Amino acid sequence: MALLEISGVNKRFGGLQALSEAYLTVPKGSIVGLIGPNGAGKTSFFNVMTGLYPADSGEFKLNDHFYNPSAVDEVLKAGIARTFQNIRLFKEMTVLENVMVGRHVRTSAGFFSTIFKTSSQQKEEKQIVDDAMRLLTYVGIEKEANQVSKNLSYGSQRRLEIARALATEPLLLALDEPAAGMNQTEKKELQQLLQKIRGDGTTILMIEHDVRLVMGICSEITVLDEGRVIAQGTPEMVRKDPAVIEAYLGLAHHG
Ligand SMILES: Nc1ncnc2c1ncn2[C@@H]1O[C@H](COP(=O)(O)OP(=O)(O)O)[C@@H](O)[C@H]1O
Ligand SMILES: [Mg+2]
Repeated sequence: MALLEISGVNKRFGGLQALSEAYLTVPKGSIVGLIGPNGAGKTSFFNVMTGLYPADSGEFKLNDHFYNPSAVDEVLKAGIARTFQNIRLFKEMTVLENVMVGRHVRTSAGFFSTIFKTSSQQKEEKQIVDDAMRLLTYVGIEKEANQVSKNLSYGSQRRLEIARALATEPLLLALDEPAAGMNQTEKKELQQLLQKIRGDGTTILMIEHDVRLVMGICSEITVLDEGRVIAQGTPEMVRKDPAVIEAYLGLAHHG
């Protein structure tokens, strides 16, 4: 069964058609890859799907319900959490605080607004700290809980972004190049983390440049080129697809 079903997405930036009738399906419980050459429209697809930019058109369905990706927090509440190609953390806040911010999406109290806390709010606050610590342990950076986020290594920052996204208890975790800047060891560990997340019931959609990583972890892959879907299927199918080979070779030829 499909968790995410998106079709007919068009997005124009001035004179540039960034997405043309783009579509994507993510089966529940799977890890799906979204690949394509630089500038293909992958991040734009995420931006439109998560309410960062309005689409010119498109149908968006999550868990059998149409949703309107008009605002980031609405999409988050609907059940899609994401990370960013260029890491977006609250850099001056601690690691723990970053995850607590994510957690507040699912709780009643506002993070900054509660100055006078009732005892039930204090209890909730304690719960939020505990949950955040549990998530840091889950992604393997609990020792760095009280560090200022900007001081973390690149790999740990990417893990923190994943922890913050998971704090919203998403149905779908959408990752934009989660392995970018990682060495081989970190990539292996990331792969294990993503498999654990999927195993624990969260469906994953990932944009990734490292074709080996994508092929090794994804059950299905969608390929974008110049804003259009040029292939969709299992890693084996996509790898052999002439249009995909052409798109990647074309990139190589043009430098
Ligand atoms: N906010 C924006 N304003 C103008 N052009 C944009 C914007 N975001 C992306 N683009 C353009 O859309 C195209 C697709 O970009 P992007 O979605 O980032 O590709 P990818 O993530 O596949 O590398 C590129 O030509 C890019 O320059
Ligand atoms: Mg991108």
